[in-house]
Amino acid sequence: MTPKTFKIKSFGCQMNVYDGERMAELLAEQGMRSVAEGEDADLVVLNTCHIREKAAEKAYSDVGRLRREGSTKPLIALAGCVAQAEGAEAQRRSPMIDIVVGPQAYHRLPEMVTKASKGARPVETDMPAISKFEAFPTRRHANPSSFLTVQEGCDKFCTYCVVPYTRGAEISRPWGDVVAEAHALVDAGAREIVLLGQNVNAWQDGARGLADLIRILAKIDGLERIRYTTSHPAEMNDALIAAHGEVPKLMPYLHLPVQSGSSRVLRAMNRSHTPETYLAIVEKMRAARPDIAISGDFIVGFPGETEEDFEATLQIIDAVRYASAYSFKYSARPGTPAATMEDQIPLEIMDERLQRLQAKINHYQLAFNRSKLGSDTEVLIERIGKLPGQMIGRSPWLQSVHVETDCQAGDLIDVTLVAAGPNSMAAAVRSKEAA
Ligand code: 5AD
Ligand code: SF4
Repeated sequence: MTPKTFKIKSFGCQMNVYDGERMAELLAEQGMRSVAEGEDADLVVLNTCHIREKAAEKAYSDVGRLRREGSTKPLIALAGCVAQAEGAEAQRRSPMIDIVVGPQAYHRLPEMVTKASKGARPVETDMPAISKFEAFPTRRHANPSSFLTVQEGCDKFCTYCVVPYTRGAEISRPWGDVVAEAHALVDAGAREIVLLGQNVNAWQDGARGLADLIRILAKIDGLERIRYTTSHPAEMNDALIAAHGEVPKLMPYLHLPVQSGSSRVLRAMNRSHTPETYLAIVEKMRAARPDIAISGDFIVGFPGETEEDFEATLQIIDAVRYASAYSFKYSARPGTPAATMEDQIPLEIMDERLQRLQAKINHYQLAFNRSKLGSDTEVLIERIGKLPGQMIGRSPWLQSVHVETDCQAGDLIDVTLVAAGPNSMAAAVRSKEAA
């Protein structure tokens, strides 16, 4: 039977969220209806992440959970990076999986669903020349803050990372397509656009780079805020840094993963930056935009990491004073060069280092939030909070801000920041923007 309803569950990075939205639009165009969390669907798409072992294993435990007693099993499509990495092997491991579709083949999903509904078990992990983006329908739904993928894939081959294998080579979407999609999102209600790419700052179309794209998007009426993520230090060029000082719609926030503060470990990771070149970028960025919130990613326990290497990571945190950061224990991924390196670090040491690192990050995160106390600023309201009358939005520095107000998602309101915690701020309304 052809499925009539579907549900998509996305895990991992923001690009998966974006892909999930696009797959939903594609299935809706075929006449299928999306059902809410908690309701049964005829088709369940698990949009998975392969970045660390725990995330990848979650894909299979979720498949197991979908076994429903007494009712018919839904069609199960394994999508995302686990699908790409495992291909048909996924169906051998878990026979409940009907469809395996890698991130570059989502435009094939409707025909795969039709085949699967007739009993076939299609697998599609090619990285075809025709881009999936061309097959997606025009955007008709938007969130106040909407994602827009402009670049995908990675050619950097950091030795710990699966992304070059799961997302393929770096590609940039053409300028015109991105601008058209941005207009469609704003017409559908987006007030902020977050440009996405695994190396978003490597985006290019001919002579145009990300800074040019941002300057053009900033001209769209009704679009109030622009962000981009994730940036690679090697691609952090002067034009982009200058844009932060000159384009008011470009928000004062930069996610710039460093991974480690030890030059030796950075070399073993095949990161092309050193602690010194990284700090030089941060300094230039602060010169262009003094209030910029810098955020980063860290891996502790990379093979061969000594206590001294780890202390260099703590030092770089002190030097940058991160406004926020994500930190992870190293996870050996099959097929990556680091997985077979000698001197893998025991879990207890990784746990202990991660705790010390996170204590330091929390300290700076709270310090950053406290430094904004008393500031008059704008918050883009995104959703309803847990308490009555409470709404939650984001400050320009991407802090999560709680406000008691009768405004709606999508409103950009003037507030004063009145309380600071390690993970969020509270604000009081000054005056509501005229609708
Ligand atoms: N183990 C642990 N963390 C990893 N990351 C990427 N690969 C691994 C791995 N094998 C982290 C990096 C990256 C973030 C998205 O995930 O910090 O920036
Ligand atoms: Fe996970 Fe990377 Fe795939 Fe995103 S691109 S889902 S972070 S493996």
